[in-house]
Amino acid sequence: MKFSFAPMEGVTSCLFRQTHAVCFPGVDRYYAPFLAPDGSGVCKQGAWRDLRPENNPAQLPVPQVLCNKAEAFLAVARELQAMGYTELNLNAGCPSSTVVPKHKGAGMLQDLRSLDDFLADVFSRCELKISVKTRLGLESSEEFPAILEIYRKYPLAELIIHARDRKGMYKSEPDLEAFAAAFPHCPFPVCYNGNIVDAVSLGTVTARVPELERVMIGRGAAANPALIRQLQGGPALDKAELEAFLRRYDEALSQSGIGEHYTLGRLKELWFYLSSLFPGELKAYKRIRKAQNMADYRSGVSALLSGDGFRSDAVFIG
Ligand SMILES: Cc1cc2nc3c(=O)[nH]c(=O)nc-3n(C[C@H](O)[C@H](O)[C@H](O)COP(=O)(O)O)c2cc1C
Repeated sequence: MKFSFAPMEGVTSCLFRQTHAVCFPGVDRYYAPFLAPDGSGVCKQGAWRDLRPENNPAQLPVPQVLCNKAEAFLAVARELQAMGYTELNLNAGCPSSTVVPKHKGAGMLQDLRSLDDFLADVFSRCELKISVKTRLGLESSEEFPAILEIYRKYPLAELIIHARDRKGMYKSEPDLEAFAAAFPHCPFPVCYNGNIVDAVSLGTVTARVPELERVMIGRGAAANPALIRQLQGGPALDKAELEAFLRRYDEALSQSGIGEHYTLGRLKELWFYLSSLFPGELKAYKRIRKAQNMADYRSGVSALLSGDGFRSDAVFIG
């Protein structure tokens, strides 16, 4: 089984990915959070910074783009190719109400003729391999057979299926039946995504689709940075290595020049997930959540780590 770390905007930026790759090696691929170009392909400088090879020395991620204009997609692809990238992932899954009405992300699934035209254009002109990360539909996974008919027309490098419709956001139960029904009709590599948080949830998916060779994990791996290693048969997370990982990530952020405010924001965002490793410690976690500066944050983390509330077998419940 190949394991990918899902893109998570605000969580899995390059400093997180690099720290994770050094402390918990073994992830097959990291997907970078989406680039959001304007109509002519211009992206924010910070977004490019996240992808520069010198900022990703441990492992180059697969970049992702959120757009519905072929020219913008192609301009981003050219820039990435010059940076040494060989693949670009299209986001056809973002459920946000600021994205979907613009027919981007999962909004691309609204009008299949436009999706088809977009894919025809980029596949005929792009020199990079193209993969797609999709939802099963907007309102229902019953939409997926028609969506898959479109994808099947193109030589996708990979189809990552987040097995929910857009309406389900990140909450609904993944639709394993719809995923299993689609799987045999995919002429390209397929990666399953959605709610894998431990060996049991992975086992449920592989029992339903035994031929599956790729899975992508997001929140479960943010909550337990050793999850992928564990699913590969390695040891469970231990508190000392969590501490070392956090120290290294704190140092990387603090030295990056983004400033205390953003450093604190990034760390709190990660702790939203990590806190599930300390199930009975809501009060101690609140100290981290409410920290106003890095000194408060670090003393909150020390207090939590010096207690006995750490549970390596705790799982993230979304
Ligand atoms: C905070 C957050 C940010 C996300 N950012 C992205 C993103 O940039 N691109 C993307 O394709 N998916 C994004 N996702 C969706 C995840 O990649 C993944 O599909 C989803 O969380 C389901 O997988 P999981 O249950 O393993 O977390 C994001 C999810 C979360 C919770």
